[in-house]
Amino acid sequence: MIDSFTFMINDDDVLALRNAVAHLADSGYCEVRVLERLELSDISGLLWRALPIYREEQLSVRDVLTSAIDLFLLQGAIPPTEFDRLFNKTDQDALIRTGVLFIDDKGFALARVSLFPVGNLLIFSDHAWCKLPHPGCAEVPYDQVMSVGADSRWLERITLRRRVGSALDLCTGSGIHALLAARHSQRVVAVDISQRAARCTRFNVQVSGAANVEIALGDLFEPVDGERFDLITANPPFVPSPLNSLGFRDGGRSGEDVQQRIVTGLPHHLTQGGIAQIVTELGERDDNLISDRLRRWLGDAPMDILILRLREHSAANYAIGHAQGDYDFGEFLDSVHDWAGNLRAQGYSRIVSVLLVFQWSDPESGPPWTRSEEAPPPLRYAGIEVEKLFNAERITRKADFHEILERSKLLRAGQIGLIESRVLGTALQANAQAQLLGTALPIIQWLDPLEKTILELIETPLKYLELLALSGDLNLDEKTVFTAVSLLIRRGLVVLISDQDCN
Ligand SMILES: C[S@@+](CC[C@H](N)C(=O)[O-])C[C@H]1O[C@@H](n2cnc3c(N)ncnc32)[C@H](O)[C@@H]1O
Repeated sequence: MIDSFTFMINDDDVLALRNAVAHLADSGYCEVRVLERLELSDISGLLWRALPIYREEQLSVRDVLTSAIDLFLLQGAIPPTEFDRLFNKTDQDALIRTGVLFIDDKGFALARVSLFPVGNLLIFSDHAWCKLPHPGCAEVPYDQVMSVGADSRWLERITLRRRVGSALDLCTGSGIHALLAARHSQRVVAVDISQRAARCTRFNVQVSGAANVEIALGDLFEPVDGERFDLITANPPFVPSPLNSLGFRDGGRSGEDVQQRIVTGLPHHLTQGGIAQIVTELGERDDNLISDRLRRWLGDAPMDILILRLREHSAANYAIGHAQGDYDFGEFLDSVHDWAGNLRAQGYSRIVSVLLVFQWSDPESGPPWTRSEEAPPPLRYAGIEVEKLFNAERITRKADFHEILERSKLLRAGQIGLIESRVLGTALQANAQAQLLGTALPIIQWLDPLEKTILELIETPLKYLELLALSGDLNLDEKTVFTAVSLLIRRGLVVLISDQDCN
């Protein structure tokens, strides 16, 4: 019987383990190289069901990178020859002494925890596939620390990476977001209610050498009572479950026990000018919209909310996807019944994966607003794009927006892909779908014919008054053009530049 990993390390071993991990990184073990080798566009696309295929197709050439991927990401076992090529004797000793790796009775090396590449950062956490018959895996206790999953990566990609004084990562799990924030924050506090998760975060902090991360064991904001932060990140448990046994994913019957308390706490913990970013899932029905609930949870705090809707599941599909009883049809159908019944009782007809962004409202931009956009999950860094969406929304709401417009030139924000649709046999005009190309958040926008015409007109930077003159030739009045231009700016398809920037 092999004990589960405890995420505890002697002070004397920290440096040795840090060196071993650094040597692994030097050998090319990072997200980009792993993706290339596995021929994946997104590392979240890794499937345990495909393990034999990866090994036979993508990992058939057994070089150092292959061995590292097999050992630290695919929960594999590597033979002594590969182990000796991957690590020198000092690193091997450090990894075995600290319990990260062990050698089985055939001399193969196996890992008790996975090491997830996130860009060029390496994060230890419990294995992703805890049901695989892998020693060190079946023994992982109930309070398993969440692996770096798709939702962890979505949050990583939209978090705004600007220099800040203080950052707070709630529900930190492995500590991934705390460690990323440590790179651009003076001080980071990482909070988790699970002792094992807090130990895992401490372990990762020790191995990374980051000196500015404090780890707090506790319930959400309780350990930071009275404090405010410039950046707050959270990936809380969110599954609306009838079971109360899903560990780090369990969000209670409504799924929103934790989210609600986080959103309610934001006004007391976010600095003016700060930003809070949350990845989660929320239930919804046409008469019970996520946007309304978030606003209610904020109370009367004047905050703007951006909701990026990434994926939607019908309640039925969600229930089927979560039901348990793989080997027993009767058990499985009973479980579907329980899950579907719970979702119905909560008043949800669909479950939506969302990225939520909160900022204090700008008084010059009028009352607080909530904006909702459909966007597929980001495949790369999208923090700046999120900030641009906020800024575009705010500028169009300013009382003096009209004057700002008259002082500036208009420019298309970049290359725009257009798909036109026509309804044949009717008098309806054509509409088009527009997408700003090359973005990490590829939001698709509907354009009416006027908006499309304006986009075509601003081939080169154009003053608003020049645009009005051109539109006059098309018999368009100022108010119509103003509304259309505002919408194009708000959607990020058109940007304003000052006269000086054009020269
Ligand atoms: C979905 S995991 C997220 C882990 C990590 N942040 C990530 O993105 O990979 C949720 C984490 O929230 C923690 N958690 C649950 N309830 C909490 C609470 N009331 N206060 C603090 N942490 C909590 C769980 O222990 C778990 O580690």
